[in-house]
Amino acid sequence: MKSDQDRNAPLKTRQQGSAIFYVVFAIIIISAAAGALLFKAKVPPKPSYDLKAPAMTSAVKALPEVTVYKSATCGCCSKWITHLENEGFKVVSHNKEDMNIIKKEAGLQPGLASCHTAFVDGYVIEGHVPASDIKRILTQKPAVLGLTAPGMPQKSPGMQPEGSAPQGFDVLAFDKSGQTTVFKRY
Ligand code: CU
Ligand code: CU
Repeated sequence: MKSDQDRNAPLKTRQQGSAIFYVVFAIIIISAAAGALLFKAKVPPKPSYDLKAPAMTSAVKALPEVTVYKSATCGCCSKWITHLENEGFKVVSHNKEDMNIIKKEAGLQPGLASCHTAFVDGYVIEGHVPASDIKRILTQKPAVLGLTAPGMPQKSPGMQPEGSAPQGFDVLAFDKSGQTTVFKRY
C-alpha cells in the first residue's frame, strides 16, 4: 500500500518541473534582450548620405578649364564652345584678329589648322574635336602636342546640330614636327 507522500510525488515533480521551465525561459528572454542590445551597439550608424555621390562630383570637378582663341565672327567656333560646355567643360573664350599668330605659337604645322585654337592642361586642341576625345587625352596623357580635326569637317561638333554623332573625319594627334597619328576615326 502506498503512503500519501508516494501519491503526491508525481505532482511535486510536475510543480518543480514547471518552475525550472519558467526560470530557464526567463534566462533565455533576458540573454536574448541583452544580446540584442549589444548587437545594436556594435552596428555602426548608417551614413545619412550616399558615399558614391562625392566621388562623382569630384570627377566632374576634375575637368580642367579650356581656353579658346577664335575670330569674333566665327559662328561654328561658338557652337563648338557650347558643345564643350554641354559636356561639362568650363570654357574661357578670347576673340583674336590674327589667328595665325596663335596657331604658330601653338606649334601647329600648316595643313593641320582649323578655325579656332584651344588650350587645355598643356595640350593644343585645334578645330572641331569632340569633347569625348579631349576627355580621353586628359586621361591617357600621351606625349603629343595636341589634337586636331583639320579643316572644317561637316559632321563634327559645332558644324552639325548639337547632339548629332560625329562622322566622316579623323581626329589626329600631332607633335612639334607635324607628325600625326589617328587618335579617333569617325
Ligand atoms: Cu569652325
Ligand atoms: Cu572654330
